[in-house]
This record gives sequence, structure tokens and C-alpha cells, in this order.
Amino acid sequence: MRQTLRLALKGRGGVSPNPRVGAVIVDKNGRILGKGYHSQYGQPHAEAEAIADSGGSDLRGSTLYVNLEPCCHQGKTPPCTKAVIKAGISRVVIAISDPNPKVNLCGISELKNAGIESTIGVLAEEARYLNRGYLSVRERRRAWCAAKVALSIDGKMANPEGLSKWITGAEARKYAHALRADHDGVMIGSGTLKNDNPELSVRDAKGPNPVRIIIAPHFGIPANYKISKTADEMRTILVTSDDFKGVVADGIEIFRMQTDNGGKINPLELLQRLPEVGVQSVLIEGGSGVLSSFMQADLIDEIVAGYAPSVIGNGISPFEGFKPVSWENRPKFTVKKVKRFGEDVVITYRRKD
Ligand SMILES: NC(=O)c1ccc[n+]([C@@H]2O[C@H](COP(=O)([O-])OP(=O)(O)OC[C@H]3O[C@@H](n4cnc5c(N)ncnc54)[C@H](OP(=O)(O)O)[C@@H]3O)[C@@H](O)[C@H]2O)c1
Repeated sequence: MRQTLRLALKGRGGVSPNPRVGAVIVDKNGRILGKGYHSQYGQPHAEAEAIADSGGSDLRGSTLYVNLEPCCHQGKTPPCTKAVIKAGISRVVIAISDPNPKVNLCGISELKNAGIESTIGVLAEEARYLNRGYLSVRERRRAWCAAKVALSIDGKMANPEGLSKWITGAEARKYAHALRADHDGVMIGSGTLKNDNPELSVRDAKGPNPVRIIIAPHFGIPANYKISKTADEMRTILVTSDDFKGVVADGIEIFRMQTDNGGKINPLELLQRLPEVGVQSVLIEGGSGVLSSFMQADLIDEIVAGYAPSVIGNGISPFEGFKPVSWENRPKFTVKKVKRFGEDVVITYRRKD
């Protein structure tokens, strides 16, 4: 099953809004007969790829491992359950069920009805995390939302003048690029655009560029920013108000939303609408305004915080504008991963339910 998860990850960037799926077929002795993954939206599913990869071997008595319940409906490709039954596979081990209403447990019942021994729930937590964007949209009707921050020992993300470049070292920044590649979209506010002029591309890691989303209802995106200069290579979206009339460089799409009396867009509404542009998971990369606004709405599912061994003192905190409803109800997270990159420590926190 671990191998199916690794294979599934190869489809990131290409399969969305479909899930990331990998499949491995083994014989009675555990020898691999075929493997495959869903590589591109509209292209064959992982199970069909694994069957094709077996090159016509006799699959009777074999076991198929797959990280998501096989589909049982005709979509852009034929149902995988039919292909599995036709191939003569005897046993299917599945990590998680598919909440897509066209599938939801009909895949597994079809396999069982055909006399195929089927098990579900193997490495379920890892499999849910791999497809967190896909599951979030189907189960909660909104994109998965992660945040990435680089901090000093004293928890500051920038000095009072707004200078924040290179808090953490080169190795931690590489990891940050890999994180970008693992999300459909990356998001910043106008403050970060103006202060840091980032490109938000994947340069120091392997993987696809995410869609760049800039929340700047009162600023726009003029042509002199790196984001504007690369807009014909990477999909870029300006999130702005209904009545916005400012400057937007060529190639940047405009996503208009209603704003409240203070000129703010509703973060939940934005996460609910992002799947319209193919974004099922988004990584907020600052700054404090956007992070605070999403924390206030209690929408941050995960925080990846990189701590560098330096002290900023008087400076900007990542959630400076956030006010918890009460001490008891302050948002709580659990530590999921701790990694060391040179002198920096990167901690991944997941929101407690
Ligand atoms: N260390 C790090 O990891 C890191 C990462 C990123 C940034 N930074 C630093 O953080 C500082 C920038 O912080 P910041 O708070 O000024 O920047 P920001 O959060 O990038 O931008 C704030 C602006 O975003 C817009 N915005 C945010 N939430 C909104 C909402 N719900 N509705 C409508 N508009 C919304 C507003 O734009 P309008 O003004 O157009 O209304 C707001 O003024 C910089 O110094 C930057 O270098 C540090």
C-alpha cells in the first residue's frame, strides 16, 4: 500500500480535480505483476494502468492494492470495477472509500458481489492526507487550507519595516518549494506582493507550479511585479471586489467577490469557490493579514512553521490580527511532523477537530 501512495503522488498537478491514485498488483508470493497510477485528468485510472502494465499475465489469484475505492461508474474512462473483475483479480485491498456520490461504497460492493475478497482501511490516515484536497471538497464543500510561515526564535515573521526575506536557510526553502508543488494553489495578500515581490514558482524542488492566488481587493497587480512578468507561464488569479477598477497586468485572471463594509472578502466563501478554478488545496504563504483573516474564520487545517535560530524582537507576528473568541476556545493544533534542515527546524501542525 505504501508503494501505491508513492505512485499516486506522481499524478499531482495533472489529475486534479480527480483524486491521486496508485495501484499495485501482486501474485500469491508478493511478486509485483503490474503497477500504475492516474497521471492526467481524463487519462486511464491507476487500476487500468496496473492491469495494462502486467502485460497480459494471468492475474487469477492475484491481489490488487489501491489507495482509493475503485470507481464503478462510466466517466471519462470505463468503470475500474469491471476491469478488475474481467482481469480475474481475486483480492482487492483498498485504503479508503471514495466520497464521490457516484462511487461511495458501490465500488466495493460490486467487487464483493463478483466474489472478490475486498478489504478497506489499510493505511487510511496516510491515504486521506494524500488526497486531502479531493476529500475536503467532497466532504466539506471547500478547499483544504494550509499555511506556511518562516519565523524567528521569538515567533516573528518580519521586522516592523516589513523586511522578511531569507529568515530560514536554503535547505528549508527547498522544502517550502516542495510544499508548493504539493498544493493546487498558493495564496498571498497585497502586503506580501508589495513587500516581497515573490514569484511563487517551484524552482528548488521537483513538481508542478501551483495556481497563484493574490488577494488584493484595493491594489490590483501592476505590471512591474515578478508575478505579472511570469503570468503567461503560470496561472495567476487576482481575488478582488465586485467593483474593482484598478490595474491588472496582462494574463492575470480576475476573480470578483463581494466584500463586507470593511472591504474584506469572506475567507470561507473564497475556499468554497476555489474548486471552480481547479484549486482543491491551497497553501497560504502570508502575510499576517491573510493568515489572521483565515485563522479568524477557523479555516486553517495545517500550519508548516519553519523556525530559524535568530531573534527579530519588535516585529510582525503571523497571526497578529487574530482574536480568539475566548481563551478556552483558542485554536488548537497537534504536532504531525518535525524536520531539521541545517540550522532550521520545520514543524507541521494539524488542526485538532
Ligand atoms: N516570514 C514569512 O513567512 C512571511 C511570509 C509572507 C509575508 N511575510 C511578511 O509579512 C508582511 C506582510 O504582511 P501583511 O499583513 O501586510 O500582508 P498580506 O497579508 O500579504 O496582505 C494584507 C492585505 O491582503 C488583503 N487581504 C488579506 N485578507 C483579506 C480579506 N479577507 N479580504 C480582503 N483583503 C484581504 C488586504 O489587501 P488590500 O489592502 O488590497 O485591501 C490586506 O491589506 C511583509 O513584511 C512580508 O514580508 C512574511
